[in-house]
Formats: sequence, C-alpha cells, structure tokens
Amino acid sequence: MNPAANLILIGPMGSGKTSTGRRLAQVLQMPFVDLDQAIEQRTGASIALTFEIEGEDGFRRRESEVLAELAGSHGVVLSTGGGAVLSEANRALMRDSGFVVWLDAGVEAQLARLRHDRKRPLLDVPDRRAKLVELAAHRNPLYAATADLRVESSGLGSSSALTRHLATLLERAWQRPAVEALP
Ligand code: S3P
Repeated sequence: MNPAANLILIGPMGSGKTSTGRRLAQVLQMPFVDLDQAIEQRTGASIALTFEIEGEDGFRRRESEVLAELAGSHGVVLSTGGGAVLSEANRALMRDSGFVVWLDAGVEAQLARLRHDRKRPLLDVPDRRAKLVELAAHRNPLYAATADLRVESSGLGSSSALTRHLATLLERAWQRPAVEALP
C-alpha cells in the first residue's frame, strides 16, 4: 500500500526481520513492534511453549489476532514471523495497513544465522536445510504476493549495511503520509 502509515517486514526465519526492523525504526524515528514478542507478551508464554501446548494451529490463531490488533497502528515498523503470510486474511491486512518489505534470504544464509537457535519449533527437526527449502518453496510465492518491495538480505553482510541500503530504497519507493498538523 502506498502511501502507507506502517512499514511491515515479512520474510523467512533468519532473514533479519527483527534486527533490521529495530535499526530501521531508529533511522526512521518510528516505534518498533515485533509480532512474535507481542504474542509472547499477551500469552505470557514463549512461542515454543505455545506451539507445544496449542499446536501450530493455536499459534496461528494467536498470530492472526495480534496482527489484526497491531495492523491498526499508525506509524510503526512491524516485524512479523515467517509464517504470518500463510493466511489470506493476514496477507490482506498487511497489504492494507502498511508498505510491505520482503527480506529475502537464501537457505544457506538462514542456516548460518540460525545455527545456535533452539527457540523456533519448526526447526526442531533432524534436517533443517530440507525444512527451510520446503518452507521457501511454499511461502516464497506468498511473500511475493504480499510485498511492495523485495530486498535480498543475505548479500550485504551486517544488519547495519542492510538497514542503510533499505533506508535508501525506501526513500524512493515508500510514500509516508504527511505528519498531521498538531492541533
Ligand atoms: C515461524 C517463524 C518465527 C515464529 C514461529 C513460526 C514460521 O518467527 O513466528 O516460530 O512459521 O516461519 P521468525 O520468522 O521471526 O523467526
């Protein structure tokens, strides 16, 4: 959506949505919100525990509820979880409430970034590479259908370099609505 009040980051696990989103929010002087962290705050449980107790379906229901709440924000940078694009309703909500950026990362970069991670239930499998390949095959068309802009996140090295690159691209691509005049 353009112009759009919010900036929404989508993309697979380990693409740098949270770290880049946080930095970008500082550069743009906007509040930063992380969807997974918001879900954890509201449930009082980790994402892993929610998966364990309620299954993936239960987690997805909570994810959609909290996304619907946060999509009503005005002027935030919102990082989402890798599977937030699975539901058509979520995709429509994101398109309608923000300028959506897809941080695209290759599987090798994801594996490297996530090598010490034990918090993501979907990666609690013997063959992480195969799982990430399978997820990308299913989800990449959904990221593509939702995003206003796709950025390759693995080639730029550090998160600060990616943030600078993204900030430059956004200057051209994203029309932020004018700040309303103060009363
Ligand atoms: C998930 C990605 C995670 C988290 C959950 C499920 C997914 O978020 O929402 O573990 O389905 O890809 P990150 O993309 O921030 O790791």
